[in-house]
Amino acid sequence: MEKIMTKNIDWSNLGFGYIQTDFRYVSNFKNGSWDDGNITTDATVTLSESAGVLQYAQTCFEGLKAYRTVDNKVVCFRPDMNAKRMIDTCKRLEMPIFAEDRFVDAVVKTVKANLESVPPYGSGATLYLRPYMFASSAVIGVKPAEEYQFRIFATPVGPYFKGGAKAITLRVSDFDRAAPRGTGHIKAGLNYAMSLHAIVDAHKQGYDENMYLDSETRTKVEETGGANFIFVTKDNKVITPKSNTILPSITRRSLMYVAEHYLGLKTEEREVALTELNEFKECALCGTAAVLTPVGKVIDHGKEAFVSKSSEPMGEITKKLYDTLTGIQMGKIEAPENWIKVIE
Ligand code: PLP
Ligand code: COI
Repeated sequence: MEKIMTKNIDWSNLGFGYIQTDFRYVSNFKNGSWDDGNITTDATVTLSESAGVLQYAQTCFEGLKAYRTVDNKVVCFRPDMNAKRMIDTCKRLEMPIFAEDRFVDAVVKTVKANLESVPPYGSGATLYLRPYMFASSAVIGVKPAEEYQFRIFATPVGPYFKGGAKAITLRVSDFDRAAPRGTGHIKAGLNYAMSLHAIVDAHKQGYDENMYLDSETRTKVEETGGANFIFVTKDNKVITPKSNTILPSITRRSLMYVAEHYLGLKTEEREVALTELNEFKECALCGTAAVLTPVGKVIDHGKEAFVSKSSEPMGEITKKLYDTLTGIQMGKIEAPENWIKVIE
């Protein structure tokens, strides 16, 4: 891929795509331990044809962002939480753990090396960081590999959904995303591979994304392919689906805290039935990439399972949550302790 000079980027018109930046972090796991790791300019990976990642999809990832704040600092949002989630993921996938302090240090090094690629404050863009790990040594019997690589690259991004703050339309998917006692709660690459057909099909049918239901009963709301849900009741309570087959979103956990402690709203994490969606007044997707994207409609086989009750694309409570969370991330609102990692 041709390298794009980041200084020539039109920050305000970025979508959510890969733009190669100058530096990335790499560490290798061999003979039972991780090496010291380093920053490199080499954006390519060379692997055995039988590498575990290529044969049995032994790979996982994380996603977080670096922001330029109102006072021109560069910060990351809760990188320790991504480190912890990757540890949980690695345990489930029989991959070696990359320690929390090393993960955070690698994030800091990657951002520091790519400071010129951190979009300016107010541009609407951020620097997306993609930590990931994969099995690099050869396997042919079905078993965990012996060698692994951990990397972090950085890429400037704009909104995940085209059209920015426009409310999106979802369909209830006939495909499942995660099985009970499977891998839905971790960030395994395989979860995303199996969602691709559903996403392509949803787009062909004119929808922005899929709403997945629990695969056991197909009556309860889970999440989308890349974000959790929040709902707002008519009396302004913020509800999020409880399930052990969805990814524990750091954005969602942060929003629930913000709702309660900054906005004085009641919150609840509980099972959410597909049939009750129309009782809610607002619905939004939350995640690092999605931030807080308002949902206008959810269509279940032609029926309107949810219609937003707001006349604006973003409902009133969703907007307050969005402004408070992004205000914290951009240094305009004081953050709870340990939420902001200052890089520079
Ligand atoms: N759910 C899925 C399936 C995701 O891929 C993501 C993105 O990481 C999320 C939810 C949101 O998680 P977070 O807020 O930690 O980015
Ligand atoms: C993120 O929000 O960081 C994710 O990993 C979602 C991804 C599907 C883009």
